[in-house]
Amino acid sequence: MIKMAVLASGTGRTLLNFFDLYKSGRLQADPCVVIVDRQCGALDHAANYVNKIDVYRLKGSEDIFTVCRKHNIKLVALAGFLSKLEIPEDYVNRVMNIHPSLLPSFGGKGMYGHHVHQAVLDYGCKVSGCTVHFVDNEYDHGPIIGQVVIPAYAVDTPDILAKRVFEKECILYPDCVNDFANKRIRVKGRITF
Ligand code: GRF
Repeated sequence: MIKMAVLASGTGRTLLNFFDLYKSGRLQADPCVVIVDRQCGALDHAANYVNKIDVYRLKGSEDIFTVCRKHNIKLVALAGFLSKLEIPEDYVNRVMNIHPSLLPSFGGKGMYGHHVHQAVLDYGCKVSGCTVHFVDNEYDHGPIIGQVVIPAYAVDTPDILAKRVFEKECILYPDCVNDFANKRIRVKGRITF
């Protein structure tokens, strides 16, 4: 079983999904370290989790990866984490993120939460989705690991579209984590296979 650190800044729904799947034996990475960069809902989920975990409040990349090394963390999963990271050499292709659009569309600085879904609807897109990717030193840019497409409707509100996307996120992200844990992801340049 590999050890995973989960980094969060928001409500912590993604973190909670990891906890639930791990408890029921469907996640092959142990979410044993949680790092937040601010006071947020994810802290409550971490406090209520039945397993013993280590929780940190940190912002800078150096401090974050020092903690990850100390705990022998093999995979870092960003779960709505809003601070920009600089990925050190030993964590290249070991940090994952999920973004609520089909990258490279609707990504980059400022594209998070409802801003993404509003932009998709304003553009008149007929599909949207979510993307899991390795994190590099540019926002929403690293090698794509998996994507799921869902329909977008003209009558959608950002909240309705977000809900439809999030349901798929809850399946895609753990699938990608399990692929990583089972060494099923290879990376060449920005191509994964
Ligand atoms: C989702 O939009 C996800 O795509 C993005 O963060 C949001 C989830 O945050 N990475 P949270 O888990 O509800 O805090």
